[in-house]
Amino acid sequence: QAKSKPSDPKYRVKTIAHRGASGYAPENTMAAFQKAKEMKADYFELDVQMSKDGELVIIHDNTVDRTTNGKGKVKELTLAELRQLDAGSKFSPQFAGEKIPTLAEALDQFRGKIGILIELKSPELYPGIEEKVAKELKKRKMHRPKNEKIIVQSFNFESMKKFHHLLPEIPIGLLTSNKNDLSNTKLKEFSTYADYVNPSYSLVTKELVNQIHKNGMKIHSWTVRDRNQVQPLLNAKVDGIITDYPDYVPRNKKK
Ligand code: G3P
Ligand code: CA
Repeated sequence: QAKSKPSDPKYRVKTIAHRGASGYAPENTMAAFQKAKEMKADYFELDVQMSKDGELVIIHDNTVDRTTNGKGKVKELTLAELRQLDAGSKFSPQFAGEKIPTLAEALDQFRGKIGILIELKSPELYPGIEEKVAKELKKRKMHRPKNEKIIVQSFNFESMKKFHHLLPEIPIGLLTSNKNDLSNTKLKEFSTYADYVNPSYSLVTKELVNQIHKNGMKIHSWTVRDRNQVQPLLNAKVDGIITDYPDYVPRNKKK
């Protein structure tokens, strides 16, 4: 049970379940997204890549080797080949049979029920992935302002600039683990197309949070895997905490 309490009673941090509630279920599977919902996270995060035949699939690594019973690069396997793999057993036999989800499937199942933070993972490997993700959101009218809780983020800033121009209504997040990306000059530039700056937790200070807020953006920080990492982020008043364990963040306890 999380003991940490923010000193300002109006302060409410968002909980974002990283790759779903990946401390409790296999990352980037429907089971992990369902768990995030059950744990009352505000959002779950997922990583999007593209199959050989151009389908949007949810997986973190560029290969299937670590998280499934298969081998090879995601971009060299067809959707049918990817769907045959078991994405659950390596986490625990209890999750045998979990599949690599498609983005469409995750949107259809969870839209409107929990926020979805979509990371374009390695968009440089997948020309046209921005257009494809934008199309999926548009098709479902998820780009309408204030319609649903959707954020698109990436470590690739050019990709995010492009996405912003394709679908300006969708909030954009910029991921970084590089301190040099966090100067005031850079933040000013980011604010022309981004809504969130999402740095690694080790880079977070109160000053940084204030600077990001002064530039009209919010901050979601990652990836909390230890309870002791929570309180410093609350003290700095980050807007959201991206964590494998949604119950580590106050007021987001397990059911
Ligand atoms: O959402 C932040 C986090 O997902 C970035 O790192 O490697 O887990 O995709 P990674
Ligand atoms: Ca991610």
